[in-house]
Amino acid sequence: MVHVNLLRKCIYILLAFILVLTICLWKETRKGLYFSLKSESQPSHILVKMWRWGTLKQGLAQDAPINVTKKLSLSAKTLRLNTSTAVAGSKLTAKPKELPSAIKVWNKNSSSQSLNPRLQKARKNYLQMNKYHVKYTGPKYTTKLSSEEILCQLRSRLDFRMITAAESPFNTSEWEAYLPKENITMHLGRCAVVSSAGSMRSSHLGPEIDSHDAVLRFNGAPTRGFQVDVGEETTIRLVNSQLITVEEQKFASDPQYNFGTLIVWDPAPYHSNIHEWYQKPDYNFFESFKHYRKKHPEQPFYILNPHMQWQLWDILQENSPEDIQPNPPSSGMLGIVLMMNFCDEVDVYEFLPSKRRTDICHYYQKFFDQACTMGAYHPLLFEKNMIKHLNRGKDEDIYNYGKVTLTGLRNIQC
Ligand SMILES: *[C@@H]1O[C@H](CO)[C@@H](O)[C@H](O)[C@H]1NC(C)=O
Ligand SMILES: *[C@@H]1O[C@H](CO)[C@@H](O)[C@H](O)[C@H]1NC(C)=O
Ligand SMILES: *[C@@H]1O[C@H](CO)[C@@H](O)[C@H](O)[C@H]1NC(C)=O
Ligand SMILES: *[C@@H]1O[C@H](CO)[C@@H](O)[C@H](O)[C@H]1NC(C)=O
Ligand SMILES: *[C@@H]1O[C@H](CO)[C@@H](O)[C@H](O)[C@H]1NC(C)=O
Repeated sequence: MVHVNLLRKCIYILLAFILVLTICLWKETRKGLYFSLKSESQPSHILVKMWRWGTLKQGLAQDAPINVTKKLSLSAKTLRLNTSTAVAGSKLTAKPKELPSAIKVWNKNSSSQSLNPRLQKARKNYLQMNKYHVKYTGPKYTTKLSSEEILCQLRSRLDFRMITAAESPFNTSEWEAYLPKENITMHLGRCAVVSSAGSMRSSHLGPEIDSHDAVLRFNGAPTRGFQVDVGEETTIRLVNSQLITVEEQKFASDPQYNFGTLIVWDPAPYHSNIHEWYQKPDYNFFESFKHYRKKHPEQPFYILNPHMQWQLWDILQENSPEDIQPNPPSSGMLGIVLMMNFCDEVDVYEFLPSKRRTDICHYYQKFFDQACTMGAYHPLLFEKNMIKHLNRGKDEDIYNYGKVTLTGLRNIQC
C-alpha cells in the first residue's frame, strides 16, 4: 500500500514536471525568431533561424553561388551574434560590445583571419568557384599605396559611363525609345551615401543626411517611416539587376522608386565585352527595364556599363595583401565610387560600422547575418579597408555616426 502511494506520488510529480517543461519549451520556440534574408543586396537568400536558448542555428539557402554540397557543411556551423543594439520588436538581448570610452573603429589592415570561421569558409568557396571566371594578372600589393595614389587609380581607371542608345548592341530601334541619348552628367557638391546597414537604426542621422546637396540610396531601402534615422531625400537610387527582375512586381508598383535618378547594375563576367554581357547578363533585366521605362518615361533611369565593376575589383585586388572574393564589388562600394565621381565631397554613412554596429543586415528588415557587415559573397572586408584608408574624416565620426568623408575625384591632383 505504502509503495503504491509512493509510486503514485512519483508519477504525479513526474507528470507535473513534464507539463511545466512542455510549456517552457513551447514558449521558447515561439520566441525563436525566423528571418528570411536577402544578403548584401546580392543574389543570395539566406534563411536564418534563431532560438533563444544559447546557440543560434542558421540555415543557408542561397539561390546563387554556393555549391549545394558545401552549403550543407556551412549551415551546420553555429553563428555567433555580435550585437550592440537591441532592435525594436525583437526579443534580442543587447550586449554592449565595447566600452564607450574605447574608440575602436574599422582597422584598415583587417585580414580574412578576422572573419569568423563560417565567413572564412565562404570566402574560400567563392575563390574556388570563381563564378565570373576572374583571371587577374595585374600587380598584387607590391607597395602599399597612399590614399592619394588610390584616388588617382579610381579616377584614371574607372569608366563611369552609362549605356546609351548610341552604342552597339543598344543602337537598335528596339532600344531607341528606352535608353538615354547621352551619357549621364552630374556635377554635385556635398553628397551623402546612405548604407542600408542595420546600424542606421536609432542613428538620428536624418537631418544631417538631408542637409547634403544629393543623397544616394540602395535597392529597396525605404525612407518612409525611417526619416529620423535615414532622412527623406533621394537623388539617386542604385539598384541591382536582381531587384528589378526577381522582384519586378514590387519594383514596378512601389512608389518609392519613382523619385530621383535610377541606376541599375548587373554582375557581368570578368572583363567581358559588352556584347557577351548583353547575351548573358547575370539577371536578364532588360525587359523589366523597358517595362519600367514605358511606365515612367520622364524619370531618368540609366544602366551602368558592365566594365566599371571589374575595373574597381582590380583596384581592390591590387591593393589587398590577400586574394579577395572573385565576385563583383558590393552595391555599397559601387555607389560610393559613383558619388565620388559626381560630387566634390562624399559623406558615407554606416559603410564602416559605428558604435551601433550590429549583425542586423538592413535597417528596415529583421534579418541577421554577420556576412552583411563582413562580406561573404562580396569582397566587403577589402572594400572597407580601402574606404578606411581613403577617409579624411575623424575616427570619432566613424565611431559615433558611422561617417566617412571622401574627396570627390574631380578635385584631386594626379
Ligand atoms: C559541389 O561540391 C562538391 C564537393 O566539393 C563537388 O563534388 C561537386 O561536383 C560540386 N558541384 C557543383 C555543381 O559544382
Ligand atoms: C564577437 O565579439 C567578441 C568581443 O568583441 C569577439 O571576441 C568575438 O570574436 C566576436 N565574434 C565573432 C564571431 O566575430
Ligand atoms: C596598418 O599597417 C601599416 C603597415 O603595413 C602600419 O603602418 C599601420 O600602423 C597599420 N594600421 C593599423 C590601424 O593597424
Ligand atoms: C550599331 O553600331 C555598330 C558599331 O558602331 C554598327 O556597326 C552598326 O551598324 C550599328 N547599328 C545600327 C542599327 O545602327
Ligand atoms: C560620362 O559621364 C561620367 C559622369 O559624368 C563621366 O565621368 C565620364 O567621363 C563620361 N564619359 C564620357 C565618355 O563622356
